[in-house]
Amino acid sequence: MSAPLLQADAPEIAYREGELHVEAVVVSRIAAAVGTPVYIYSAGAIERQYRRFAAAFADRPARLCYSVKANSNLSIIATLGRLGAGADVVSEGEFRRALAAGIPGDRIVFSGVGKTETELAFALEHDVYQVNVESRGELELLSAVARRLKRVAPVAIRVNPDVDARTHHKIATGKKENKFGIDLAHAPDIFAEAATLPGIALKGVAVHIGSQLTAMGPFEIAFRRVVELFRGLVARGLPLQRLDFGGGIGIRYRDETPPSLDDYAVLIRHLTEQLLDGLEVELAFEPGRFIVGNAGVLATRVLYVKEGVTRRFVVVDAAMNDLLRPALYDAWHEIVPTKPHGRAEPPVKQSIVGPVCETGDAFALDRALPPLAPGELLAILSAGAYGAVMSSSYNTRPPAAEVLVRGGDFAVVRERPSYEALLGLDRMAPWLAGR
Ligand code: LLP
Repeated sequence: MSAPLLQADAPEIAYREGELHVEAVVVSRIAAAVGTPVYIYSAGAIERQYRRFAAAFADRPARLCYSVKANSNLSIIATLGRLGAGADVVSEGEFRRALAAGIPGDRIVFSGVGKTETELAFALEHDVYQVNVESRGELELLSAVARRLKRVAPVAIRVNPDVDARTHHKIATGKKENKFGIDLAHAPDIFAEAATLPGIALKGVAVHIGSQLTAMGPFEIAFRRVVELFRGLVARGLPLQRLDFGGGIGIRYRDETPPSLDDYAVLIRHLTEQLLDGLEVELAFEPGRFIVGNAGVLATRVLYVKEGVTRRFVVVDAAMNDLLRPALYDAWHEIVPTKPHGRAEPPVKQSIVGPVCETGDAFALDRALPPLAPGELLAILSAGAYGAVMSSSYNTRPPAAEVLVRGGDFAVVRERPSYEALLGLDRMAPWLAGR
């Protein structure tokens, strides 16, 4: 039996010869060369997750549009683009990233509840594969923009199936009280309107009920409702050919048991075969976290160990501005020393906190870990998704650099901004300038 994986789905991130490696590169070497905090990703782990997903649907027409919001570094998008991935984007900025990384517009799905007129025009001018429309207002604006540009907008309408995704409430999107999609009761009218609007080519139905789903039940209820809607609309003569199932498959951060990809694929096969008998449908998926979540770590160095009255604080050089998930969602991320302690020291409860001036700036509270010491290098695991992309310069801290590893090579794929760059966007108001 081999040792249990440090991170699910990422054998590339492992201890070898007494030190944490990402592929063939030892984490301490990257930390020494690039500084800390630093995000480190394994290209191999990302590629394998993508290939697994693609293989699960290889026998049918299916598009994989990597959800760029999970990690939009150009090198990550390009790594996936080379394997044939499309992209799911939610802003012109992400659209531009996908294009810059080599994914053409005709492999891009444009999602999001608040696209602006400029963004819609940008998407049409770049031959977007599909716009996932979320409201009547957006549909009508898109029709007007398409007519003005003398283009036809390929449209899917995102529906809200009113299903509890049983995930953190801030990342659940499929309940009727959430802002996303069009509820099932109103959906038939909007689809009918879309079919008649000039400049709109109605293509399909889209759904996404939330992120980090760890149970299959919510997917099953939501997808059944969506496929039934699809069948009903086709029966009414609407020319639908595409079903976009969104993203949302959870990963293991701690002890979750997310649905397996195979079970997920079987569910979709059953529903589409059972309910759509023989209809030609092209499937689309928008996985984000599943592809990159367990493919990256955030390396950080211990600055101080401070005995509080009731807690031992380990102050590290990464903070909530680098990795917001624990502060925002109380998310659990495993934390390990990059050099396991040789002595069999009994673990002690320690709270791993960052330098930002907020009590919420904590990566773990009262976590049992081997006694840590200043200067020691730690890795915060499962940080490949919604880590760097959600970073900020709060407290005027330059957010962590990003490094991509491939085999024995590594490259800085995003620099840590300089203080000049951080301050450089501010302008002194004219009445304050001078002297
Ligand atoms: N498609 C749509 C329309 C989405 O809104 C999302 C994620 C995805 C696909 C990708 O979902 P995934 O496969 O990654 O679960 N910042 C949060 C997660 C927010 C997810 C937002 N939407 C976190 O750190 O957990």
